[in-house]
Amino acid sequence: NGGVSDAKNLRVKLVLLGDSGVGKSCIVLRFVRGQFDPTSKVTVGASFLSQTIALQDSTTVKFEIWDTAGQERYAALAPLYYRGAAVAVVVYDITSPESFAKAQYWVKELQKHGSPDIVMALVGNKADLNEKREVPVQDGIDYAEKNGMFFIETSAKTADNINQLFEEIAKRLP
Ligand code: GTP
Ligand code: MG
Repeated sequence: NGGVSDAKNLRVKLVLLGDSGVGKSCIVLRFVRGQFDPTSKVTVGASFLSQTIALQDSTTVKFEIWDTAGQERYAALAPLYYRGAAVAVVVYDITSPESFAKAQYWVKELQKHGSPDIVMALVGNKADLNEKREVPVQDGIDYAEKNGMFFIETSAKTADNINQLFEEIAKRLP
């Protein structure tokens, strides 16, 4: 049938979590507008953007993206955004072990308080800074596998793996 009758239009609430400065807002800006802002300002509270992608079977997925603020003072707001989210993208910076530890904190928080069927992705961002890497790629792979998460390394700066991140999430939707 050429796949035409299989077409669906999905709407998905997605939340980004992770330490301040790991590049959450830059990932969203790259995905939604195809841009990179080296002078990106810290997010205050949270910001909302949406973007629709088409899959090969002509299903469309509209991502409703809540980009949360990573600074500690906003941590108490996070449940407002991850509650009811179908997808959580937990981001760290491959040059920062502290941010990898913070990512693990968010994964535990989501396992305790997120929706039971939430799709979770672990993202090691700033992959362009490989010469400053402090989190081995295998550590990300292992942690994600143990926790049933999808794993990818990205660069919002070069756009490497940014579209792939969202396409892979779309494929994993229930
Ligand atoms: P909060 O809003 O405080 O939670 O931070 P955030 O995670 O949204 O960080 P943001 O996207 O604002 O990026 C922080 C800094 O990292 C900015 O100076 C960006 O230019 C830089 N940055 C983001 N992504 C990348 C990347 O992939 N590579 C490099 N080299 N720098 C990046
Ligand atoms: Mg931000």
